[in-house]
Amino acid sequence: MRTKIVAGNWKMNTTAADAHVLATGIRSGVEHIERIETIICPPSIWLGVLAHGVIQRGQYPHLHLGAQNMYFQETGAYTGEISPLMVKEVAKYVIVGHSERTHIFREDEELINHKVQAAFAHDITPILCVGEEEQSATSKETVIRELKKLIDGLELADVKKLVVAYEPVWAVGTGKAATPAYAEDVIVHLRTILPEETRVLYGGSVTEENARGFLALPDCDGFLIGGTSLKLKPFLTVCQYADDAAQAGGHRSLHN
Ligand code: PGA
Repeated sequence: MRTKIVAGNWKMNTTAADAHVLATGIRSGVEHIERIETIICPPSIWLGVLAHGVIQRGQYPHLHLGAQNMYFQETGAYTGEISPLMVKEVAKYVIVGHSERTHIFREDEELINHKVQAAFAHDITPILCVGEEEQSATSKETVIRELKKLIDGLELADVKKLVVAYEPVWAVGTGKAATPAYAEDVIVHLRTILPEETRVLYGGSVTEENARGFLALPDCDGFLIGGTSLKLKPFLTVCQYADDAAQAGGHRSLHN
C-alpha cells in the first residue's frame, strides 16, 4: 500500500517570518491528517530554523521537511551549494531535477543522476521530477526515456523508496494543469518500468479545485505543489482531500 504524499515546494518565496507563520499553520492544520505524508520544501536558508523550531524531526511522524535542491558532493569548494550531509541533518526529502533547475540553472541528466544517487547514499529520499516540455503524441515516450536515464544505476531497493513527480513542464506555474486522464496515461506508462512500491506524484498547477480529479486516479499517489502551497487554506484543503482519498482507498499505514 503506497502512502499518499502532498509536498509543497515554496520555491524562492517567503521571508523568515512568512516561513514561520506558514509552517506553523501547516503543522496545526495537518495534526489530524494522518493517513498521508505532508512535506514542506522551504528555501534552504529556512530549513534549519524550521527543523529545529516548528517541525522538530520525529515529533510529527506525518509531517516532514524537504530541501528543494542539493549538490552531490559532501563538502568542498562549491560556492553557493548545500550538500547531502547538510540536508540530512534537517530534512528527510530532497527535490531533484525540478524543471526550473534544468531550465534556468542548466542542470543536465548526468548531474541529476548523481544527485539521486547521493541522496540515497545519505538516506535522504529524492523526489525526482520528470516531465515533457510540450504536450504531444510522444510525451509518454519522452518522459519514460528521461526517467530511465535519471534512475540509471540505482539499486531496486532504492527505486522502491524513490518518489517520482510527474510534472509536465507546460503545466508548471502556468495555471494550465494536465487533465487527470492525460496524467494517468503518462503515469501508467512510467509505472511499467517502476516497482509497485514507488510513489508517483502529479505536479503542475494543482489547486483545491482540480486536486480531487487527480486523487481519483489509481496510479497517482499525490502531489508536488508550487503556487498553491504558499496559501495555507487551499494547501490544507488539498491535504484533506488526499487524506479522504487515502481513507477511501484503505491506505492506513505509513510507507516507512
Ligand atoms: P505549480 O508548481 O504548482 O506552481 O505549477 C509545481 C512545481 O513547480 O513543483
